[in-house]
Amino acid sequence: MNKTFGVNPFTAPPPLGCAVDTPEPCALVIFGASGDLTKRKLIPSLYRLFKNRLLPPGFFVLGTGRTEMPSERFREVLLAGLRESLTEECDEACWRDFASLLHYQSMEYQNPQDYVATLAGRLSSLEQDMGSGGNRIYYLATPPTVYENIFTNLGRAGLSTGEGGSVKIVIEKPFGNDLASAQKLNKTLLAFFREEQIFRIDHYLAKETVQNILMFRFANSLFEPLWNRRYIDHIQITAAETLGIEQRAGYYEAAGVLRDMFQNHIFQLLALTALEPPATFSAPRVRDEKAKLFQSVRPFPLDRPDDCAVIGQYGRGSIDGKEVAGYREEAGVAPDSRTPTYAALKVFIDNWRWQGVPFYLRSGKRLAARRTEIAISYRSVPHLMFSRAMAGGIEPNTLLLRVQPDEGITLEIQAKNPGSRVCLTPVSLDFSYPREVELDAYEWVLLSCMEGDQMLFVRGDGVDLSWGLLTPLIEQLESKGATDLPTYTAGTDGPMAAAQLLEKDGRKWRPL
Ligand code: BG6
Repeated sequence: MNKTFGVNPFTAPPPLGCAVDTPEPCALVIFGASGDLTKRKLIPSLYRLFKNRLLPPGFFVLGTGRTEMPSERFREVLLAGLRESLTEECDEACWRDFASLLHYQSMEYQNPQDYVATLAGRLSSLEQDMGSGGNRIYYLATPPTVYENIFTNLGRAGLSTGEGGSVKIVIEKPFGNDLASAQKLNKTLLAFFREEQIFRIDHYLAKETVQNILMFRFANSLFEPLWNRRYIDHIQITAAETLGIEQRAGYYEAAGVLRDMFQNHIFQLLALTALEPPATFSAPRVRDEKAKLFQSVRPFPLDRPDDCAVIGQYGRGSIDGKEVAGYREEAGVAPDSRTPTYAALKVFIDNWRWQGVPFYLRSGKRLAARRTEIAISYRSVPHLMFSRAMAGGIEPNTLLLRVQPDEGITLEIQAKNPGSRVCLTPVSLDFSYPREVELDAYEWVLLSCMEGDQMLFVRGDGVDLSWGLLTPLIEQLESKGATDLPTYTAGTDGPMAAAQLLEKDGRKWRPL
């Protein structure tokens, strides 16, 4: 693309009615408050919400964890984390006011008594002092190994139902490790909490451009009539990262890319791109359509996995000019590890809209670029009347939903070259979100949960259905010999076999 016609509709503040509502007062109880997620994501997001006056009066945080420490120490640790995470200067006066809302209570998650005596007592006394009205949100920022303990002990202590206020529970991914474990987790959770109280996080759903997919599809009359097998040749969904596994070998070795990125983020992008129009823009109706979509995904051909799946693992290479280690050389990774860090899948959806249209999905670590996008490739024009001048053919149109970085939408079209008789050049119509109007994904997650809006969260049946599709494939791939896991050089587009997956169909991946 060598020409761009810029469009910038966000020159004025959002119109009335688009602004975010301030939620009801509430207490946010964080389990795993001395951990990394609290320090790096939750507290910085809450601080920004506080600074932008989006937190309700009466709001407070009660952090819990095994580590013994007074609330003053907890605040010091969080301030250090905040300074590292914020891109802007930390406003000291604002921090002081915000810090007065942060409290800490140590407890043992396995010990039922700690819920009845310690947690319940501290919570009610803070609720009285702060005036939070009895509304409670439990946020599980712990390793998943203690999830079931926490659900059960909260439930048995009578803390899963409110006394005059609402009670919600937020659960981080991974939600299960396969279909059976996800079903077991859902069963325990639903023994104590109703589905309306449960907020299963997929932070991709809270990204601005991901939220925009449904608006774009169903608020514009232009695209939806073309959103089907008659006009679309294929769709590519990419989530490429340049990062490696950082300090997460313990988790990643057991997960691999299919569990880490596909079962949740990529499948959610697939569902939003392909679902039928919901009757209303409400969480239950949108989640109904996602469930129907997952039910229409064709099961992977397990007898011919190479037809639908390619996996790979990164070897040494260079990213941004810096040498980086191969996956098997990372701290905590087994030297003969067979964990895939890259996967590409070909998926078909067996319904009227999508019959025969391949969806190519790919995600990997240590790739050439950090880019998440959905590329809708339209069919070629049926008859090329410019054939003499354009002997090589012309590129079909592509609509690009850019999730990150540089969030926005691009429509790639053909236009006449000025001054020429017949000469076409690909150009792009481009819309980019300005950075300053954004709430980040965790800010959206926290606000939506306080408001009780489940749109950005995954329903239990959605989790089970996506695990149901992927578990047999993961098991099949894991049962194959180590030779079936090609290595790709860090900093490249991934394994050669992934390119061949599309070449067999006469197509190409978009370059990273
Ligand atoms: C997480 C995965 O859910 O998403 C990580 O566990 C991955 O492995 C991350 O790096 C990607 O998120 P984002 O927002 O940086 O694209």
